[in-house]
Amino acid sequence: MSEIKDLSPLEKVKIVSNGLRGTIAESLNDELTGAIHEDDQALIKFHGMYQQDDRDRREERASKKLERLFSFMIRLRLPGGFLTADQWIALHEIAGKNTTGVIKITTRQTVQLHGMLKSKIKPTIKAFHLAHLDSIATCGDINRNVTCSSYPSDLSVHLEISSYADKISTLLKPKTRAYYEIWLDEEKILDKKREEDPLYLDAYLPRKFKIGIGIPPNNDSDVFINDLGLIAIVENNKLLGFNFAVGGGLASTHGNPETYARLGSLLGFVEAGEKTFKAIYEVLTVQRDFGNREDRKQARVKYTIDRMGVEKFKEEVEKRTGFDFEEIKPFTFTERTDEYGWKKNPSGNWDYTLFVENGRVLDEGELQMKSALLEIAKTGKASFRFTVNQNLIITEVKSEDKSEINAILEKFKLIEHTDSTSAIRKNSIACVALPTCPLALAESQRYLPSLITKIEKLLTKHDLVNENIITRMTGCPNGCGRSPAAEIGFIGTALEKYNLHLGGDHEGYRLNRLYKENLGEAEILSELDELFGDFKTGRKRNESFGDFTHRTKFEN
Ligand code: HEM
Ligand code: SF4
Repeated sequence: MSEIKDLSPLEKVKIVSNGLRGTIAESLNDELTGAIHEDDQALIKFHGMYQQDDRDRREERASKKLERLFSFMIRLRLPGGFLTADQWIALHEIAGKNTTGVIKITTRQTVQLHGMLKSKIKPTIKAFHLAHLDSIATCGDINRNVTCSSYPSDLSVHLEISSYADKISTLLKPKTRAYYEIWLDEEKILDKKREEDPLYLDAYLPRKFKIGIGIPPNNDSDVFINDLGLIAIVENNKLLGFNFAVGGGLASTHGNPETYARLGSLLGFVEAGEKTFKAIYEVLTVQRDFGNREDRKQARVKYTIDRMGVEKFKEEVEKRTGFDFEEIKPFTFTERTDEYGWKKNPSGNWDYTLFVENGRVLDEGELQMKSALLEIAKTGKASFRFTVNQNLIITEVKSEDKSEINAILEKFKLIEHTDSTSAIRKNSIACVALPTCPLALAESQRYLPSLITKIEKLLTKHDLVNENIITRMTGCPNGCGRSPAAEIGFIGTALEKYNLHLGGDHEGYRLNRLYKENLGEAEILSELDELFGDFKTGRKRNESFGDFTHRTKFEN
């Protein structure tokens, strides 16, 4: 372990935080500001929140000598992205009462709500608690929300596999009772022994940790971008276990070649059950003990594994588990796209996958999506599952209830909305970026929809309108919208400027590469016009756009 003097400042904040309590309680009571104390801003991430401010209003507030308009974003812990009808109703009400009202489905299969004032945090968390929901460990240097593929192609084992997401989330939850004490008024723990945390000790992990489960053949959960990706191996409808892929992560920093996006490396196979949980746990302890705690830009598992080497990392995990990884079992991903519309699921019930542009559920103009979903929830005849592509599955609808749910979808024109959306839009993702994200260099979710409209026209011109091209935009290179793993990736560099990345594959095995830098909209459209023209004439049979650009635009 590093000497304490060499540790990054955040390491010290964690160590002296008294189980992630810091001075959060005092910060909440400070009525002179809408913000919380600086060190507490790092600690509330572990409780599932980010302090933010409205960047659109900074100048106006400054001119009136007012402090920035601070508010908080809260993100739920929802392993596998599942909500009951009652939980949907609670979420709808809490979003309307305490936040902007927009339910934002995230690229990690959960939801976040924005614009929550400091005084609303406690009521919000209490209301979620009554609905059996919490926001523990959804941000911060800890295991975050565990994702799971939403589309088992007729595998009756989906329930079993998605229950792993739940169990992993529970296994890796911090032991501190701070969340219950601060937000839910639980009595203070006097016996500190009850809070001892053999996994996270007192400094938690060096950096965030993300786990995702993929179920071939659909890689909708983008399994290789996770710190730990688990690829379910199923034979004859029986879950055998998981291939472990370690060291994925998408963030980089412009101009710093020491930072880079990386896909996970396959370590080997582990059989289902206790051995899987043991191996997951020890991957975390290896990262806890070997991860870089001096430089946060080098702290993710991807850098640990590149520093140690894959074999050494694997050996260290095996030393701790007491058993070896088995040989990697074969698997094939063929897709990353959500399966829109009605589909019979393995339990014999029905699922409807609804397209939600950039995951934003709201009532806007003609499209009253939020009202429609509330009406569906109120029937009590459906549950809800978020997808890792920011869409929503209305799930577990019994055959006899399907026409009632379908009628609500039709009444609110949601079927028309999903069916009439173009392939490129259905395969697009944008991160939040402005106005709330403090790290955004450019717009993303407020801009991508209009850019897609212009790209649709180009695709129509080249007769490519049915191509499922995966297009993603992020307002900075942190990659929250998984832009480095897209066939067309836009990465913000400054207001109205984007790097254009190409050559990622369709299935999620290959990252894209920088093609052109700092393009404005006109340049983006002219580049794409030319690329689509080349693709139309030069593609091989069934070649995807990503494979085509990889083959023709980069020297290999
Ligand atoms: C150094 C790396 C990163 C930093 C500092 C970072 C920071 C942030 C911040 C500040 C937000 C809040 C934005 C807002 O709600 O206004 C955010 C959102 C989010 N980030 Fe990251 N992020 C990083 C990398 C990633 C990566 C690689 C992923 C996943 C592949 C990811 C997934 C998310 C998700 C799911 C959200 C919620 C909003 C959305 O769906 O776009 N982040 N991140
Ligand atoms: S990618 Fe960058 S701009 Fe977008 S939400 Fe993440 S940190 Fe913010």
